[in-house]
Amino acid sequence: MSDPVSDPVSDPVSDPVSAGGPAGEPCVALVTGAGSGIGRATTLRFVCAGARVLALDRDPEGVAETRRLAGDPGRVATLVEDVTAEGAPAAAVAAALRHFGRLDWLVNNAGIGNAKAADQTSDAEWDRYVDVNLRALFRFSREALPHLAPGRGAIVNLASVFGLFGHPRVAPYAATKAAVVGLTRQMAADYGPAGIRVNAVAPGVIETALTRGRIDADPRFQALNIDPIPFPRLGRPEDVANAIYFLCSQEASYVSGHVLAVDGGWSVTNYSRRGAAL
Ligand SMILES: NC(=O)c1ccc[n+]([C@@H]2O[C@H](COP(=O)([O-])OP(=O)(O)OC[C@H]3O[C@@H](n4cnc5c(N)ncnc54)[C@H](O)[C@@H]3O)[C@@H](O)[C@H]2O)c1
Repeated sequence: MSDPVSDPVSDPVSDPVSAGGPAGEPCVALVTGAGSGIGRATTLRFVCAGARVLALDRDPEGVAETRRLAGDPGRVATLVEDVTAEGAPAAAVAAALRHFGRLDWLVNNAGIGNAKAADQTSDAEWDRYVDVNLRALFRFSREALPHLAPGRGAIVNLASVFGLFGHPRVAPYAATKAAVVGLTRQMAADYGPAGIRVNAVAPGVIETALTRGRIDADPRFQALNIDPIPFPRLGRPEDVANAIYFLCSQEASYVSGHVLAVDGGWSVTNYSRRGAAL
């Protein structure tokens, strides 16, 4: 059976199967927020598929642990940066090229979240959400785009189901995630002609550091976000990593501008009416 990330490419735009470089090299990904949760699982999923990863995080221990878990240190290079730092996008792309010689996939995963309504959000908090969840994603995409090869270049952005549907007390977070959906669609339109696909995933409740504190401790969170999930378990980082890998790989060779919910069916339930009673 052929390896979808290392097959040679003769005509990458029209070849629906191959995903490797011209000489059959493995694909190279840049994953932000790779020191925990979904970013770590995505890094491990890519490595498992034979790809190489430049794993970036502001947390040095987290990203070192991701590299250790990958098993083969030659397949993961790490970079400790805050995605909002002025020089972070250029440093990350340069590091991917320096370590692995190319760049095929960008996963804009680093993000922050908290429970806030608009009237409880300070200017500083608003700016921080925009800087991390949206502005950095735009700046990393802009830096990576010129390096992504036609036919195999792909960007996957982390949106959220809260960016698709109204929900209590997540105003600044949801606003940035809705903007991520909009930017994903616009970039798919702008860079499709260059053979580059841009998609987003919209996770529901995934058990990570971002949600752990609220899953057990907050009954309203439980009633709104967990009880209505049709599938009988919470989401795992690996569930989202599989969807991200699919969207990067040539299995999704004609999928662009799409927002893929990974939520166990939460977004097709009438969650808001149930939660409104609380
Ligand atoms: N967990 C969920 O239920 C859920 C749901 C919807 C969307 N998401 C999105 O998925 C993405 C990953 O979330 P997660 O649940 O894995 O969170 P997480 O907190 O487990 O991991 C986020 C990682 O990003 C890093 N990070 C945060 N800010 C950074 C910065 N400024 N610079 C560099 N690194 C930074 C953190 O150090 C951490 O390693 C986020 O964009 C989040 O909004 C998560």
